Amino acid sequence: MRSIVILGSTGSIGQQALDVIARYPDEYRVVGLSAHNQADLLAKQAATLPVPPLTTLTSRDGLAGLLELCRLDEADTVINALVGSIGLRPTLESLQAGKKLLLANKESLVAGGELVLAAAGKQEIIPIDSEHSALFQCLRGEDPADVAKLIITASGGPFRGRSRTELSAVTLTEALAHPRWTMGPKITIDSATMMNKGLEVIEAHYLFGMPYENIDVVVHPQSIVHSLVEYVDGSVIGHLGPTDMRVPIQYALTYPRRQTAPAGTINLIELARLDFEAPDNEAFPALSYAYQAGRTGGTAPAVLNAANEAAVAAFRAGACGFSDIADCLEDVLNSHSVLPADSVDVLEEAERWARERAASWLAAWGN
Ligand SMILES: NC(=O)c1ccc[n+]([C@@H]2O[C@H](COP(=O)([O-])OP(=O)(O)OC[C@H]3O[C@@H](n4cnc5c(N)ncnc54)[C@H](OP(=O)(O)O)[C@@H]3O)[C@@H](O)[C@H]2O)c1
Repeated sequence: MRSIVILGSTGSIGQQALDVIARYPDEYRVVGLSAHNQADLLAKQAATLPVPPLTTLTSRDGLAGLLELCRLDEADTVINALVGSIGLRPTLESLQAGKKLLLANKESLVAGGELVLAAAGKQEIIPIDSEHSALFQCLRGEDPADVAKLIITASGGPFRGRSRTELSAVTLTEALAHPRWTMGPKITIDSATMMNKGLEVIEAHYLFGMPYENIDVVVHPQSIVHSLVEYVDGSVIGHLGPTDMRVPIQYALTYPRRQTAPAGTINLIELARLDFEAPDNEAFPALSYAYQAGRTGGTAPAVLNAANEAAVAAFRAGACGFSDIADCLEDVLNSHSVLPADSVDVLEEAERWARERAASWLAAWGN
């Protein structure tokens, strides 16, 4: 019986993780849950479990409660489904406590990739993000030296095909209407700006040890091919499946085994066609800023991520326009003096600077 802690159980991934776990009561038990604000939902989730779990509400208990969950003696597995780089210390704490880490919280890897890899040592981090779960599966059993390229697919979000000028007038409601996935609000906005793909490029760099020049992004509007690996002999192995996060969540839990489909199967005849196109880096420049930050390394990815969190929050609050998000990222990234990412303290200081810089840029230019 595996014993699991879910950080961020009230979110989109957290709720779907509980849903998957409930299908296998003889194999998995939940021993810890966290939420930030949604106390009622957290209590309801705890009450439906066979044995009451330890719970923590971070808006009340702070980070200490989360870190206690990461170290919980009776847990062997931590699902990090928090949103934002607040997830970095819990990711490190879980790995340092020797827990198996199933990672949805991409921002912790983006902000602190070097530190996370050092904390993981030889322990495998199992990705939950659908693209990385796909890559993880396409790489299984192969010699890493034979990999030529990782190809990450992107739906293109709700604004695929729009020009930069057209994007300046889009609304929050439009940005939140993702054509393929139902997700939490922050990642939904990140998908609309293509920053989500940028974060995923950096995530893939750390998870699979792949140089940035060997990571490509391809827009695939149907979101059926979740990512692909090109090998040196020209063979390309792709992963196809339903557009449903319960599939990669279940795979992360059951790996290296598979269990019955949690969300149906795909019908290739009904799908009929799968399209692929190049990303539009002019209309959606956030993706290129992520490559720039990733290649720069040190504190640059953490700074870019923190500026993005601040700009997305401002857009959601009506304090800036959609196009201001990417413009703000460009300003913050290009004004940052990069330092080596030696410690969480250094990263958090760089993030603080980035959030302040983003706030003053948005106050001056956002509309
Ligand atoms: N949703 C998806 O389909 C999907 C797919 C791939 C990857 N991901 C990644 O998975 C992660 C979670 O995404 P999501 O869409 O599930 O997010 P979400 O729906 O917004 O849920 C976030 C969870 O984290 C908690 N939380 C929010 N702010 C927090 C803070 N400052 N401190 C501690 N806890 C906090 C929330 O608690 P409350 O509910 O109480 O606010 C909630 O439980 C993100 O890194 C995202 O990029 C998501």
